[in-house]
Amino acid sequence: MTERRTDATGWRSRGLGTVTIGQAGDELRLCGWVHRRRDLGGLVFLDLRDRSGILQASVGPDWSGEEAVASAGSLGAEDVVLVEGVVVPRPDDARNPDMATGEVEFQVRSLERLNRAETPVIPVYLSPEEELPSEELRLRHRVLDLRRVELQSRLASRHRMILAMRNYFDGLGFVEVETPILTKPTPEGARDFLVPSRVHPGEFFALPQSPQIYKQILMVAGFDRYFQIARCFRDEDLRADRQPEFTQIDVEASFVEEEDIYRWMEGCMADVARVMGGTAETPFPRLTHAEAMERFGIDRPDLRFDLEVRDFTPVLGALDSNILQGAVEAGGRIRGIHLPGGASLSRRQIEAIEAKAKGAGAPGLLWSKIQEGSASGPLGRFFQEDTSAALGARDGDLLLVAAGPDNVTSPALAAARMAAIESLELAPVRDHAWLWVTEFPVFEDGGDGSLAANHHPFVQPHPDDLHLLESDPLSVRGQAYDLVYNGTELGSGSIRVHDAGLQRRILGMLGLSEAEIDLKFGFLLEALKAGAPPHGGIALGVDRLVVRLAGGASLRDAIAFPKTTAARALFEGAPSPVPPVELADLGIQLMKGGGGGG
Ligand code: AMO
Repeated sequence: MTERRTDATGWRSRGLGTVTIGQAGDELRLCGWVHRRRDLGGLVFLDLRDRSGILQASVGPDWSGEEAVASAGSLGAEDVVLVEGVVVPRPDDARNPDMATGEVEFQVRSLERLNRAETPVIPVYLSPEEELPSEELRLRHRVLDLRRVELQSRLASRHRMILAMRNYFDGLGFVEVETPILTKPTPEGARDFLVPSRVHPGEFFALPQSPQIYKQILMVAGFDRYFQIARCFRDEDLRADRQPEFTQIDVEASFVEEEDIYRWMEGCMADVARVMGGTAETPFPRLTHAEAMERFGIDRPDLRFDLEVRDFTPVLGALDSNILQGAVEAGGRIRGIHLPGGASLSRRQIEAIEAKAKGAGAPGLLWSKIQEGSASGPLGRFFQEDTSAALGARDGDLLLVAAGPDNVTSPALAAARMAAIESLELAPVRDHAWLWVTEFPVFEDGGDGSLAANHHPFVQPHPDDLHLLESDPLSVRGQAYDLVYNGTELGSGSIRVHDAGLQRRILGMLGLSEAEIDLKFGFLLEALKAGAPPHGGIALGVDRLVVRLAGGASLRDAIAFPKTTAARALFEGAPSPVPPVELADLGIQLMKGGGGGG
């Protein structure tokens, strides 16, 4: 066995991928995995891999000895080895300029297999271009999948981004405080994961959906500037940009206003972008929620593209069409998108765009192609001679139109906008579209005449709208904002209610009885009565930030051990049934058909 002295680098002289021509002549001890083995009759080439890269090692009778050649010949993929030897320049015709280590070869003097690997179920890929096995298979065998260079470098980027954020907030005097993982069940718009208490049968903790209430209490306690890299848990239906367990960079500060939060977060994003080798131009543009809905139909517009939604009511409302006139008579509007050059889209492509609009809740989408001076399509047939000109549409253009109440047309046109951009393969006007969306409403329609919190119940109403709280609650703007990047909501925050009376009033408006308020939010209200400073903050989704800035198709590509869209962990096999005796210990009995097992 090779003698294993350890020093600052452990057993190894350096990482495999860091061995370059500068080390020619050096005697090194290296460790790693056998990525590939090639036998050339008495000479064995090994591609050895670790997280720093790949190095080609050669095992030959003249410099390694017959015994080493024999043991190299028996190595299998993913076996773990320790090699000692010398770095030599490759002959000219064997140089590989595409590899960091392509100028050199490692001549092995001694070789030791540290461990065997069973034949890998999925291969370990080096390049993102290689076609991967199904995601399910990769998640099932995550230990092999995680050896992929792409995932290793993305997780390393994640680490550097989080480090940059920690350093940034530390530099501004923020203190990282850990808040509990076992908390009180508190509805915050999504579902709690519950944890039964063994010592108090019948009682439950909840995993935090976010540290929201704790960070507010920390402000009352005088912490002034808090942040946390916080794990959050939400038992909601999953999508590509949602995980049941995810990470936030959570921030809160006292004696501040919205401008302070904007400035701090812009500085933080600039640092994070820099770490990723890019830049984030600050200050970020802003749109109010009302403007975003009017001009893009959505509260997180993708501003890489300038295309906007327009109000066509004055022109199209005058046409002789029951659908159009009926929508306006019912109090709605006729809004649409004017796509210069859009007439090149086929009927099929337009129908695909319409399908997206329908998927977003619209009964349909009307359209018209303007070609050779005349308008065609289900909308075009109502056009009068001057209609196209009045809308500013020219030959070769396409108009997509939705008629009805804004709450129906907005999501439909937002979906149609993105689908049209994709179909027409429009080039982005800018690559990085950061955006603040401000003045989110405090409430939204909860159905049946009830009110729901648009974000969460702790948002401070805009001072100019406070008088409308009871008379016209749906029109009350909040001091609430979202950070949007290329059409993704990265973060959300607000100035908070710091007055216990106002907080109680708002909770009451959300339909909670006095008793429910005390039961669910009593501890927050008690804190607010203890001298609460005005405060506000924000939380950004770290997983979303990583995917957006470091690449990946879904959040699963930014998380070492993610859950599937069916909310399962395939590698470790969770969730899983619990034997009845363990449930009995917790005072829990499953209903028939509720699973469980023993
Ligand atoms: P919110 O619920 O908007 O706000 O969450 C803030 C950000 O967290 C990310 N996020 C998620 N990421 C992955 N999977 C999920 N299931 C998921 N849910 C949310 C998003 C989102 O923008 N306490 C407030 C913040 C505050 O007011 O300070 C909160 O949690 O990027």
